[in-house]
Amino acid sequence: MPILHDAGSVAGMPHDHHDTHTSHEPHDHMAEMLDLDAAVLHDFHREVIGWVGSLTPDRAHVVDVGAGSGTGTLALATQLPGVQVTALDMDQDLLEHLRRRAAEAGVADRVRTVRADLDQGWPDLGAPADLVWASASMHHLADPARALADVRAALRPGGRFAIVELDSFPTFLTDPAGAAVEERCHAELARMRHEHGMHMDEDWGARLTAAGFEVDGQRRFDLELRPPLPPLAGRYAQVGLQRARHGLADRLPSDDLAALDAVLGTLPDRDDLVVRATRWVWIGRRP
Ligand SMILES: C[S@@+](CC[C@H](N)C(=O)[O-])C[C@H]1O[C@@H](n2cnc3c(N)ncnc32)[C@H](O)[C@@H]1O
Repeated sequence: MPILHDAGSVAGMPHDHHDTHTSHEPHDHMAEMLDLDAAVLHDFHREVIGWVGSLTPDRAHVVDVGAGSGTGTLALATQLPGVQVTALDMDQDLLEHLRRRAAEAGVADRVRTVRADLDQGWPDLGAPADLVWASASMHHLADPARALADVRAALRPGGRFAIVELDSFPTFLTDPAGAAVEERCHAELARMRHEHGMHMDEDWGARLTAAGFEVDGQRRFDLELRPPLPPLAGRYAQVGLQRARHGLADRLPSDDLAALDAVLGTLPDRDDLVVRATRWVWIGRRP
């Protein structure tokens, strides 16, 4: 039974596979980091939801796959005021966080949460979806082909599947020494994700086609935010690099760990940060 109704822990699950950010840190850091991404990259999220929304009926049933702290769910519910959103995630803490944010944003009546481990199968949601949204979540799923087939079956004919993916956490540092250690961190994190079997470098357009979707949109976003940055950018850099430092404690040379500690000592209040990130969006249509 894939819907997990209880509020208990999922700690017995093989969490490594599901944690892009590779550490075993408390969930509040994960929730904070996801919320910071939503705040700092707000214009990107707004543009993508506007695009996807233009392809979505006014009173759509939208399903957010791996909804996390609610970035997609809240943006969808606030930018598309007629839609009902079902937020799916296997993490109870994140779903509770999402419900609190939905209440604060005044959209709780149009958001429901369903706890489900999608590696075990797709839950019965009672109604077909007009739009399925998966941001930074498809790469977590153990069997992408099966997940795509599940999404296709959950959509009504003509419904859309929007996949947003990334290659890594953004970079922030611009001084040569800082940028070099940040680059080594990212390279090691990428190796770690690869070892954990995560699907980071997939061609989701090809996968959508193979799963029987028509690909009707594909865009790459090269994001670069220069000073003056959004107020939370420094905190985003701090939380992200702290998580990397924690996850890589056994994998980086001591010089790099010391350099990271020195950088962390200067955050969040630096005026020389530049936020750089690459995101891809694919939109598939169920024929
Ligand atoms: C990197 S977060 C992205 C969250 C959100 N979509 C966003 O864009 O901020 C990935 C999410 O996928 C969820 N997830 C990973 N594997 C899952 C699975 N097998 N079933 C359900 N959710 C899963 C995680 O719990 C996490 O909330």
